[in-house]
Amino acid sequence: MSGFIVLALLFSANSTTHNPVRKQNIVFVGFRGAGKSKFGRAVALAAGLPFADLDAEVEFVLDEPIVDFVEKHGWQVFREVEQRVTHDFSRNFSGVIATGGGTIENSKNLQNLKKNSTFVFINPNFSAVKKHLIAEESKGRYQRVNPALPLAQELDQLWMQRKDIYSATADLEVTPDFNGNPEEEGKQILEQISKTNFPKIPPVKKIAIFSSRNGSTLQGILDAQKKGRIPNVELELFVTDKKDAGALKKAKGNFHRVEIFEQDKKMSREEYDRELMNLLRENKPDLILLAGWMRILSPLFCEQFGNQTYNVHPSLLPKFAGLMGDDVHRAVLDSEEKYTGCTIHRVSATVDTGETVLQRKVLIDEQDTIESLRKKVQKQEILGFCEALERR
Ligand code: GAR
Repeated sequence: MSGFIVLALLFSANSTTHNPVRKQNIVFVGFRGAGKSKFGRAVALAAGLPFADLDAEVEFVLDEPIVDFVEKHGWQVFREVEQRVTHDFSRNFSGVIATGGGTIENSKNLQNLKKNSTFVFINPNFSAVKKHLIAEESKGRYQRVNPALPLAQELDQLWMQRKDIYSATADLEVTPDFNGNPEEEGKQILEQISKTNFPKIPPVKKIAIFSSRNGSTLQGILDAQKKGRIPNVELELFVTDKKDAGALKKAKGNFHRVEIFEQDKKMSREEYDRELMNLLRENKPDLILLAGWMRILSPLFCEQFGNQTYNVHPSLLPKFAGLMGDDVHRAVLDSEEKYTGCTIHRVSATVDTGETVLQRKVLIDEQDTIESLRKKVQKQEILGFCEALERR
């Protein structure tokens, strides 16, 4: 596969928003294995801020470990994907970001991240980091940059090449105990970070999720919560209208309340929705997310709960409004569009016309099929919901 095709497959443009919010970030930079993710996660947890590990976010988009991707396509293609993901997070995320060891060697990444971030250089004792990386070599977590050299020499070379970039760009340099307790170290680092330009702590949100299907987007939200991406979210209520929906298995054990609520043949749509609204009145979620909900909600529901109900539609509305699931992707492919994506919007009585919360784009390439498009769009649905959940 050529580099261009790989990029086309993976490209996802930044989200556009109808409600721009000022983004601030705390960005952890430093050598590979220095603990940027470990301490970054601890700082985010102590501060109540969303956390994003850029390497993990790149792997989410790639759908495979970075080592495997670099092995197949080389460093340059990887760096281009990393650049797109970094751009996306610098614009659409507000919290703590752990970069990869080489992220800020790319001047575009540096520029994008610097716009709205405090840089923290995580600089524990280099020999401890090096010893750790050599001991871990057999696990194959890191792709070699110069495999012709012994690892110790490669690490020394990389350190010499990068350390000045880390210290020159840092607003703060910290030397945590590499083998210390990350929670304690995290709290100490947090105390040293200036509160000027501190990211806004997202308000706590109790959410309900409705799904009729397999629950790919639901799974993404559950994973994002485990990764610390949406620390402000409480999973209050899950409802499915299909007792055999894959989403049900995923939801069990993760929500305070899980309900299977199938429509009785004698029930009208409005009667069904009245019961649904009773559930919402009991559990009082702040937001209701429709993640693969294949029912059209009645005007009564939309009138009372439409403003706090976000639907995800797998196209860039108003294009392909009124269709559902794979029918949308089929129509997109038939229309020979260059882009597709997803729209998160509030629900209103006229299907797929409620106020847009945000949209995220996906580039379509020649080899795309319904399956590949669905997969790419669903990744953007997950990122879009996370972004929407961060907002006030
Ligand atoms: C969702 O990801 C979303 O794109 C679409 O259905 C998918 C279901 O995925 N939603 C709609 O079309 C709503 N009009 P899943 O089967 O993995 O849950």
